[in-house]
Amino acid sequence: MTDHNSELQITETVMKRVREKFAEDGSGHGIDHIMRVYRVAVRIAKEENCDTFIVALIALLHDVGDHKLSANGTVNHREEIVELIEGTGLSNEQANQIIDVVEKISFKGNGVADMPLSPEGRCVRDADRLDAIGSIGIARAFAYGALKGRPMFDPEAGPSTSNSFGEYQNNKSHTINHFYEKLLLLKDRMETSAGKRLAEGRHATLELFLAEFLLEWDAKR
Ligand code: ADP
Ligand code: NI
Repeated sequence: MTDHNSELQITETVMKRVREKFAEDGSGHGIDHIMRVYRVAVRIAKEENCDTFIVALIALLHDVGDHKLSANGTVNHREEIVELIEGTGLSNEQANQIIDVVEKISFKGNGVADMPLSPEGRCVRDADRLDAIGSIGIARAFAYGALKGRPMFDPEAGPSTSNSFGEYQNNKSHTINHFYEKLLLLKDRMETSAGKRLAEGRHATLELFLAEFLLEWDAKR
């Protein structure tokens, strides 16, 4: 068992390494996103009586090896995480607990069920999804869309859905579509009480934004 001091030390070492790895990012997946997920996830974990140490590490590592950040679209969460936690003193069991969640945490499409996670994983998934909605979520969606060269909106291209992760990944639609294929669905996919509570206001922000956006788009405002 790791004691409290070494837990703090491990968290700090991993945080420092993650800061270096995610220093430069224009996709909305930078260190600011990771630190928000870390803070909100730990807050949720306390309310849920979960292991805050494991939650903190999953949050810090949750985007390591993600397909959205990889140059060639391939992912290897395990390899990149093992490299990042090397020499920190985490046990194999703890490492596996973390990697198992990171491999399953992502949204895979509106027609695809979320993969079941441990209680600690659920705290991080909710925190990650809270950062995808509300004002920050809107900003992140447009930052990501711009990076991928996508139009903000195309009224001719109606809302699209995806029934597999492959379809979801290959969807090159406009950014407003991302609200319909993912962001507006997140409130009802929250799995913790705190997540459900926090999602309400942020979801309302999405709806308000969309209503205004569509009016302004048609120059009706
Ligand atoms: P997840 O693992 O569930 O995909 P992440 O935090 O890794 O969560 O990244 C999700 C965020 O990436 C979205 O909330 C959004 O900001 C951005 N994103 C992903 N796909 C798109 C897209 N097609 N259009 C706009 N933003 C996107
Ligand atoms: Ni994330």
